[in-house]
Amino acid sequence: MDHAARRARLEAATLPVVLPSLLSCDFGRVAEQLRLLKEAGVVAVHLDVMDGHFVPNISYGPGVIADWRKYTSCYFDTHLMIADPARYVETFAKAGSDSLIFHIETVDDPIPLIRQIHALGCQAGLSLNPPTPFEAIEPYLSEVDKILVMSVMPGFGGQQFDSEVLSKVRRIRQASPTLPICIDGGIKASNAASAVAAGVTELVAGSAIFRPDGDIAAAYHELQIAGAMGRGS
Ligand code: DX5
Ligand code: ZN
Repeated sequence: MDHAARRARLEAATLPVVLPSLLSCDFGRVAEQLRLLKEAGVVAVHLDVMDGHFVPNISYGPGVIADWRKYTSCYFDTHLMIADPARYVETFAKAGSDSLIFHIETVDDPIPLIRQIHALGCQAGLSLNPPTPFEAIEPYLSEVDKILVMSVMPGFGGQQFDSEVLSKVRRIRQASPTLPICIDGGIKASNAASAVAAGVTELVAGSAIFRPDGDIAAAYHELQIAGAMGRGS
């Protein structure tokens, strides 16, 4: 299965799409957990790449992603929390990433990098931290395939959802009625509907999926149902 097929499956999925973040999985059992996610019906997983510079944490890089690519046909939604994304996008594309999302805070002009990502055959996303205003990304809405709105300061899973970012989601949705909007950080069954009602189409969830009872499928379905409650509201 290639980029186009994985992307088609994501685009055909019922909204909102829940994207499990592997940051919270058991890294000793990733292949098994990828199989469980597939059995639960997951079409896309969110991969958090952290460099210890842009964010105060280090996670995993392209070598690890290339190995995971062998075990799953899920869409790889790749969130680059790194200070110099332009230096690494080609390596991540080769590793099997389907989208490459970089932070507006890391570049002066995102346009050349968006073009580079598209030339690599990947979808391009722009992300913004909670303090970064809507105006920072507004000029680029027509250039990207998605906006990733951070609802926590990036760096760690398991943080508290910041509902103030929902006003930013509403402004993005007003400016662009069809652009995929993903929200990332602290998403749970209790706040998924409010995010979707504001205009979110994709919900990233780490700790809410890989929860202590280990029931990945139940957690995934609970989030899907909770998120769907926000549609049309
Ligand atoms: C935070 C990452 C998130 C994180 C989400 O820096 O970008 O994707 O894994 O984890 P939860 O859902 O636990 O907040
Ligand atoms: Zn993320």
